[in-house]
Amino acid sequence: MKTIIEPFRVKVVEPIRMTTRADRERLIAASHFNLFGLHSDDVLIDLLTDSGTGAMSAAQWSAVMRGDESYAGSPSFYRFLAAVQDLMPFRHVIPTHQGRAAEAILFSILGGAGRVIPSNTHFDTTRGNIEATGAEALDLPCAEAADFSGTYPFKGNIDLTALAKLLRERGAAVPCVMITLTNNAGGGQPVSLENLRAVHALAQRHGKPLIIDGCRFAENAWFVKQREPGQATRAVRDIVRETFSLAEGMTMSAKKDGLANIGGWLALNDDDLALAARNRLILTEGFPTYGGLAGRDLEAIAAGLAEVVDEEYLHYRVRCNEYIGERLLALGVPIVQPVGGHAVFIDARALLAHIPPLAYPGQALAVALYEMGGVRSCEIGTVMFGRRPDGREVPARFDLVRLAIPRRVYTQSHADYLIEVFGEIAREKTRLPGYRIVEEPRLMRHFTAKFARLS
Ligand code: F0G
Repeated sequence: MKTIIEPFRVKVVEPIRMTTRADRERLIAASHFNLFGLHSDDVLIDLLTDSGTGAMSAAQWSAVMRGDESYAGSPSFYRFLAAVQDLMPFRHVIPTHQGRAAEAILFSILGGAGRVIPSNTHFDTTRGNIEATGAEALDLPCAEAADFSGTYPFKGNIDLTALAKLLRERGAAVPCVMITLTNNAGGGQPVSLENLRAVHALAQRHGKPLIIDGCRFAENAWFVKQREPGQATRAVRDIVRETFSLAEGMTMSAKKDGLANIGGWLALNDDDLALAARNRLILTEGFPTYGGLAGRDLEAIAAGLAEVVDEEYLHYRVRCNEYIGERLLALGVPIVQPVGGHAVFIDARALLAHIPPLAYPGQALAVALYEMGGVRSCEIGTVMFGRRPDGREVPARFDLVRLAIPRRVYTQSHADYLIEVFGEIAREKTRLPGYRIVEEPRLMRHFTAKFARLS
């Protein structure tokens, strides 16, 4: 059969409160045209993030009931540990309340002024946690990543030549090499095993640990199986195991490919580093057998890890996003290609060419998606990145809008509705207005900035 069905039935439903376009125009104006200001029950389809927004399975909910809330040595921790080590063979696994807590602990040890941490592209919390220690977060994406319409299959790869040059010239300042799977900030694009093996060899030659940000490890492994020569007949599970056997540690947000609503971990092979991390964990998160989580959360993650490597699930997951991407291209809506694992990225600067970057085409598209269809998305462009530390405002390298797809939450008809909304946008696009910022905080302005419409 050609039709790919959702590989699950729905047992519990969450009603969507319907709104009219007039309601939404009033609500978004009252939120000063910032989508983070909306109440989520005023949103019909919420594509703000795929993080912590997935639906848990019946097996996960029953595991939740098994959660043991002992302060130390809970059996829930040991089930969590076994589930992680089954896929990621690290000696030490340290639970944290979410991904950024693992990053904060790791870089409180490895960061510091004068150090530089290279990556294919750091996610913004990773960058923030590195920079907060005085270190430099350096992005070295492969050249293909900059070409939104090119169909190179592994645009998440790191630029190996640039990494080799950095290690040669500034090696003493590099405490570790990072790779983010998939490359979220770069459009949810995967990293090939070939690239990872080469990074591993290079890092080893220079005596540097490779640390993987593994948030979307299963989606990455699925792409490897689909796209990398010689990988098609391997089980995703085996690809995952090889991926992490190439690293000395990982940070993880279980809110993505842990299929959980909260949680994360830091995993390490080095005993001394793990000791320092656990000491830090006790100060900031909790005892090492719960690390800021309830026992029931550890259970949900353990069950989620068994489900996320299911290939029927991954097939459905990635195909849904491709379906949306194909329909958008057919409408003439420019997107980042190929479609990534967790999201579809729209090139708003190209779509709304009449709105200059400093009038925020990404914000204009995100507001229009909400007003016309009640869809919440996220601007990733000049609003997010345009304010420099010295106070100047400059256009970001791109103006994208991310439609992040929660796991196992929306169905095909939600996707068809979304595409219909885009049809309307495509028709009305030249009439969409730009925006100016009337109030913004000093840092991370996209969360709370207030906007006004340009007439
Ligand atoms: N690394 C990557 C690649 C991420 O995408 C995220 C979160 C984190 C680390 C931090 O994890 O949220 O559990 O602290 N990304 C979310 C998003 C917020 O919407 O892309 P966290």
